[in-house]
Amino acid sequence: MDDRQVLLKMEMTVLPMTIDLYDEVFALWQQTDGIGLSSADSQDAIRSFLERNRGLSFMASMNGKIVGAILAGHDGRRGYLYHLAVHPNYRRLGFGRKLVEHSLQALKKQGIQKCHLFAFQYNAAGIAFWKSIGWTPRVDIQAMSMTIE
Ligand SMILES: CC(C)(COP(=O)(O)OP(=O)(O)OC[C@H]1O[C@@H](n2cnc3c(N)ncnc32)[C@H](O)[C@@H]1OP(=O)(O)O)[C@@H](O)C(=O)NCCC(=O)NCCS
Repeated sequence: MDDRQVLLKMEMTVLPMTIDLYDEVFALWQQTDGIGLSSADSQDAIRSFLERNRGLSFMASMNGKIVGAILAGHDGRRGYLYHLAVHPNYRRLGFGRKLVEHSLQALKKQGIQKCHLFAFQYNAAGIAFWKSIGWTPRVDIQAMSMTIE
């Protein structure tokens, strides 16, 4: 049996994100290229995000170890996904797709019909992933930001 077949036989679980596992999830984000972290990702900020967006964010675990995570929320009109990450040793096993599906189904149950995300332009592999699972790049939109003093 090769390494991939061994991994596929291990127990994979997707579970709702809870703040008690923040340290593990944050460590995963920190070591993942393509994830931009800021003060909006402090423990207090993520706690607040999870409370405002209950049941929409998920973690993936394999034999008890957190190997993937996604944040999802909505503003009453549209859904937004953030910080999808799968540990490099556990990629191409379907975790990324499963995490996205869980968040989209949870958003749908709350009446949300469309979802957006931001990807760094340099993140070609991440963008290839999103396209392969059916997302459409928006070349008609320029993302803009302002820090509120
Ligand atoms: C993007 C990411 C979450 C994908 O997670 P994953 O668990 O490996 O994805 P899946 O196994 O569910 O892949 C589903 C399909 O997406 C496509 N895909 C996945 N990774 C890909 C890559 N690097 N390049 C091209 N296509 C890819 C494939 O079609 C794959 O199906 P296949 O394995 O049957 O060919 C993971 O590579 C990651 O954490 N990357 C760094 C963080 C990141 O870029 N996040 C997105 C920020 S916008």
